[in-house]
Amino acid sequence: MKQGLPQDSGEAREPVPAAAAEIFGERLELAQSYQSSLAEVAFTRGFIGPKEVDRLWSRHILNCAVLAEVFDEGLRLADIGSGAGLPGIPLAIARPDLEITLIEPLLKRSTYLGEVTAELGLDNVTVVRGRAEEQKKGQFDAVTSRAVAPLGKLARWSLPLVKVGGAMVAMKGASVGEELERDAAEIKKARGGKAEILTVGSALLPEPTTVIRIPRKR
Ligand SMILES: C[S@@+](CC[C@H](N)C(=O)[O-])C[C@H]1O[C@@H](n2cnc3c(N)ncnc32)[C@H](O)[C@@H]1O
Repeated sequence: MKQGLPQDSGEAREPVPAAAAEIFGERLELAQSYQSSLAEVAFTRGFIGPKEVDRLWSRHILNCAVLAEVFDEGLRLADIGSGAGLPGIPLAIARPDLEITLIEPLLKRSTYLGEVTAELGLDNVTVVRGRAEEQKKGQFDAVTSRAVAPLGKLARWSLPLVKVGGAMVAMKGASVGEELERDAAEIKKARGGKAEILTVGSALLPEPTTVIRIPRKR
């Protein structure tokens, strides 16, 4: 782990990793405010488990923000099953050029998302309370997700929302190759094209992030 920067909040216990400054640049303070909100508000409301509070930067904020490497300038994204805003909010902080819609069905979570994005002044973020499968089709360049559903179901929920030529980009663990093999028929049926498994954040993080990118075919 790289040497940490001084922490601005006495309550947060994980030092801000040096990579945070590289990832967020002049928007680091916004990322720090989001980290504090997760540690205090989201934790109190039960969206973040007690074990996670000490590793919000490493396991949640930075590993989500490095998804920025995957997207071209100015795209319109949806983050489905956003929960407390992961990966959508770190991505929106790191990449103000992206327009991101957070889609979350649970009232308490979508309320939190509205509150925290307003507090942070994230004008590139919109919050929608609802299920992914109920949203208007073909409206996004890409659909992100983390820890929402097995790959096949995720393809059924994500790909219809994506424009032809766009892609779903899901954060997944080491067993993503097995999921891909297991759910290949379901992905094809959802008009998924050739999947790519990518590692992002290798130059910045001790544990880089694995994502699967599946393009939407006609
Ligand atoms: C385990 S949480 C993950 C939250 C966040 N992505 C994260 O990584 O911390 C799964 C989230 O998916 C949401 N969810 C479940 N079914 C959904 C659906 N059909 N469409 C959109 N979101 C859904 C849940 O409400 C929940 O917030």
